[in-house]
Amino acid sequence: VVLGIDLGTSAVKVSAVDRRGNIVAQQSFDYPVTQPQVGWSEQNPEDWVNGTTVAIVNLILKDHIAPTEIEGISYSGQMHGLVLLDENHQVLRPAILWNDTRTSAQVEEIKNKLGKKFLDITRNYPLEGFTLPKILWVKEEEPEIFKQADLFLLPKDYLRYRMTGKLAMDYSDAAGTVVLNVTKKCWSTDIAEAFDLPSSFFPNLIASTDFAGHISESYATFSGLTTQTKVYGGAADNAAGAIGAGLLKSNMVMSSIGTSGVVAKFEDNADIDYHGEIHFFNHAIPNKYYSMGVTLAAGDANSWFKRVFGETQSFSAWLREAEQSSVGANGLLFTPYISGERTPYPDADIRGSFLGLDRKHQRGDFIRAVLEGIIFSFKDIMTIYDQQGVDFDTIIAIGGGAKSPLWLQIQADIFGKRVTTLENEQGPGLGAAIIAATGLGWFDSVQEAAQSFLSFGMVYEPKAENVLKYQQMYSIYQTAYRSTAEIS
Ligand code: XUL
Repeated sequence: VVLGIDLGTSAVKVSAVDRRGNIVAQQSFDYPVTQPQVGWSEQNPEDWVNGTTVAIVNLILKDHIAPTEIEGISYSGQMHGLVLLDENHQVLRPAILWNDTRTSAQVEEIKNKLGKKFLDITRNYPLEGFTLPKILWVKEEEPEIFKQADLFLLPKDYLRYRMTGKLAMDYSDAAGTVVLNVTKKCWSTDIAEAFDLPSSFFPNLIASTDFAGHISESYATFSGLTTQTKVYGGAADNAAGAIGAGLLKSNMVMSSIGTSGVVAKFEDNADIDYHGEIHFFNHAIPNKYYSMGVTLAAGDANSWFKRVFGETQSFSAWLREAEQSSVGANGLLFTPYISGERTPYPDADIRGSFLGLDRKHQRGDFIRAVLEGIIFSFKDIMTIYDQQGVDFDTIIAIGGGAKSPLWLQIQADIFGKRVTTLENEQGPGLGAAIIAATGLGWFDSVQEAAQSFLSFGMVYEPKAENVLKYQQMYSIYQTAYRSTAEIS
C-alpha cells in the first residue's frame, strides 16, 4: 500500500491505498487553530507531527496495516502556512496559517515595491493569505525571532522533514509562497533581494513525485514505520485535490464546495495570461499548471444560514425545503459575501445581501437563494475564463455541492454546462496517494495513476429553460457586487 497524508487545517487524515486505488484503511486526528488576536490564525507544527504519528500508529495497530507493506508515502498540505526554523532546524514560533489576515501592510509594501514585475514573476497578486507577506510581517514585527531564522518551510514540508530528516519544498506549494518564479520553476532572486532575504532562506525545490528520502531511523522508532518506506514530495492541497478529482486535461474545470469554494482549471502550459485575476500555480504534474479562483464563503454560507434559521433540521430536510421553491428562488437573490470575497473581487470588506425580498417568499426560497448565490459566485470565476476565450466542457463537482442532486442540477443550469461527479470521491488524500503510487513507479505518470484509481459517477445536463432563467438572474447578480459595495 501507499499512505496519502492530507495535512489539513482542522485535522490530518491518513489513507492507506492499495494498488487498485481502494482505500483499505483511514485514520485521522484533530488539532486546534489558535487566534491570539483578531484576524490571526496559528497552529503548533508539533501538533501536525504528533497527529500524523497517532494516525499512523492507529493504522498499524487498529487496522493491522503491516509497516513492511507500506511502500511509499506522500502528502497533500494546507497551503501558504509559514514555518520558521533556526539553524538547528528548531521551530521558532507558531506557524502563521493561510487564513491569517494580519499582513495587509506587508501586502501593500510588496505592491508598492515591485508592482507589475511581481505579477510577471509569480503570476499572482500578493494577498494576506500568501507566505511572503507573513515572512515580512515576522521580519518587521518580531525582529528578535527573525534574526534567528535560518530558513522557512510550508506545513507539509515541515512534516516531511520530521519524517525523513530532509529539507525540501515542492513546486506546487512553493508557488503559493509568491516568491517562486512560476514558469522558470526557481526562487525569484529579484523578489528575495527586494526584501533582503538570503538565498539560504529558501529550501531546495523538488517535483511532487520526486523521491524525497526514506523514513528516518528516529521517526521509524517513534512511529513504528520502517526505514524501507520511501517518501515523495507531495503537493499543495488544491493541487492534490485537483488530482484526486481527476482534473487532468485542459477541457476540465473543478467546482469544489468546502467551507470556502474553489473553481480550478487544468492548464496545459503557462501561455495564458489571466493578469492576476485568478490564481495561477504549478500543478503536481510536471510542467503543468492550474488556475484557481476562490469564493471565501461557499459551504460556510449554507451552514451559516442553516445554523441561524434551521438548527434542528437535518441537511436533507433542509434541501427538500429548497426543492419546494423554483428556479431562481421566486426572484430572491443572495450574494454569499458573508466574510468578504476573494475572486473575482479581492475585497475583505464587502458583505452579503438578500435582494428582491417579497411578501410571497417562504423559507424554502431563502434556502434555494443561498444555494444559487454560492453557485453564481462560482459562475463569476468562470466568467474570467469566458472573457479570455478559454473553453471547457466538463465540470467535475466535488465536496458539499456534489452530495445533493438539487445542488448539482443548480450547478449544471447556472454554469450552462455538463456537471460530473466522482464515483467514490476521496479528496486530496487520494491525490497524495496517487503521487506516491506514481513516485514508486506503479504507474508511468500521475495521469495514468489517476485514471486507474478514479471513476466518474453521475452526470447532470443543463436544462435549456433553466439555463435561460439563470442567465437573467446572473446578469442581476453581476451588478449586485458594485451596488452593495458602495453601501456595505
Ligand atoms: C488557497 C488557500 C486555501 C488553502 C487551504 O490559496 O488559501 O485553499 O490551501 O488549505
